[in-house]
Amino acid sequence: MKRRILTGERPTGPLHLGHFVGSLSNRVALQDEYDTFIIIADVQALTTNFDRPEALAGDVRQVALDNLAAGLDPGKVCIFVQSMVPAIAELTVFFSMFVTVNRLRHNPTIKTEAAAYGYTDMTYGFLGYPVSQAADILFCRADLVPVGEDQLPHIEITRFVARRFNELYGKVFPEPDAMVSRIPRLVGLDGAAKMSKSMGNCIYLNDEPASVREKVMSAVTDPARIHKTDPGHPEICTICAYHAAFNQGEHEDIVSRCRAGAVGCVACKKRLLEVLEAFLEPMRERRLGFSSRRVLDEILESGTERARREGEATLGMVRPAMSMDYFSGKGLE
Ligand code: TRP
Repeated sequence: MKRRILTGERPTGPLHLGHFVGSLSNRVALQDEYDTFIIIADVQALTTNFDRPEALAGDVRQVALDNLAAGLDPGKVCIFVQSMVPAIAELTVFFSMFVTVNRLRHNPTIKTEAAAYGYTDMTYGFLGYPVSQAADILFCRADLVPVGEDQLPHIEITRFVARRFNELYGKVFPEPDAMVSRIPRLVGLDGAAKMSKSMGNCIYLNDEPASVREKVMSAVTDPARIHKTDPGHPEICTICAYHAAFNQGEHEDIVSRCRAGAVGCVACKKRLLEVLEAFLEPMRERRLGFSSRRVLDEILESGTERARREGEATLGMVRPAMSMDYFSGKGLE
């Protein structure tokens, strides 16, 4: 039997190159070797968007399409919607009984996000979403979770939940391992440490060629370089970081020519554009193949159906372990 992967994202807008480098590329590479579940975490999106749930329907489809365009094969992987798998909500409640508030308060990702959103007081759902994320992962008893490094504190909590549940009630869950992308986090077009939607410094997987061109040509490079013969500092250059991520074969050569003042920023950007287009164009084609509403909804519905069955099977182990299978055999499930 294949080992199982669970990963995914919140549907809060289109995915960008940072997502690809940080997690999509991993899950695409692993889909043959592992039984893969991809969660579209719409409930988790509500932690910050509870006042506009009407945006979710479009964003759920967008994220599903981005995953399919990136190369996930719906014949192999199970893509599903979180809110439609009742077992996840049920497990969240059980797990929340033994995860302390202090453990959640000390989670560095929660702290960073709360500061970024300017929360002075956190909702119960926001503070507790790592518990819900543990249920996202454990409902299908996943073994491996490919994620960006910002998710590591959440996977730590998931491991704690699995361990503690097994100690308290008997062994039901594997203790899943995180798997972090080998490529470091992608910088933004403006040179900021992170490509992120809120900073408006992204190239999206569904950007049109003209838009990719404009973004690349106006990206921040090495501000100390005025003439193309000035020696460059590739270690601080955005474009160079993108070459490292998407053009490994030529990266070293580009670095040394930049240092020597032998390649100018414009030429370096043009080469990157070719490389990015060679990568984005097949994605656009795959996206087209899935873009009919009927095709996409069928993929999501059958994935969600399978996830519901997995969740029921897990609850079928959780309830007896907790001695809460009160009516078993009496026709009530
Ligand atoms: N927290 C993840 C993010 O913000 C999304 C997510 C929800 C997730 N549930 C998950 C990731 C389970 C991995 C496993 O991107």
